[in-house]
Amino acid sequence: AYVIGANCIDVTDRACLDVCPVDCIYVGERKSYINTNECIECGACEPECPVDAIFVDRKARGDESKAVFVTDSIAFFEQTLPGRDAPLGDPGGAGTVGDLGVDTPMVARY
Ligand code: F3S
Ligand code: F3S
Repeated sequence: AYVIGANCIDVTDRACLDVCPVDCIYVGERKSYINTNECIECGACEPECPVDAIFVDRKARGDESKAVFVTDSIAFFEQTLPGRDAPLGDPGGAGTVGDLGVDTPMVARY
C-alpha cells in the first residue's frame, strides 16, 4: 500500500489528489492520508508530491520514522477522530466527504 509520511505535514500540496484515479487521498488539517482499503496501488501519486512524502509501505520496514505513518494512516480511518462521532471508515472517495479538517492525535501533536 502507499502511505503519506511526515513531509506532508503543514505542506499538504495536494498535487497527489489530482492524479489519484480512485480519489482515495483524504485531506486532514495538517496532513493528507491515503485510505489503504481504497487505494489500488497504481503509484501515480508518488512522483507527484513535491516534498517526496509518499512511499510504498514495504519501504517502511526497519525504518521507524516511516513505519509510524503506516500505522497512523490506518488509524485515521479506523479510529474516531477528535470532534467526530464515528470512524471515517471507507467512504468511497474523498470527494464524498470533503476536507476533514482533523488529524490523528499523532499528527496533531507532531
Ligand atoms: Fe501531501 Fe505531497 Fe499530497 S505534500 S497532499 S502528499 S502532494
Ligand atoms: Fe491513488 Fe496513489 Fe493509491 S494515486 S490509487 S493513492 S497509489
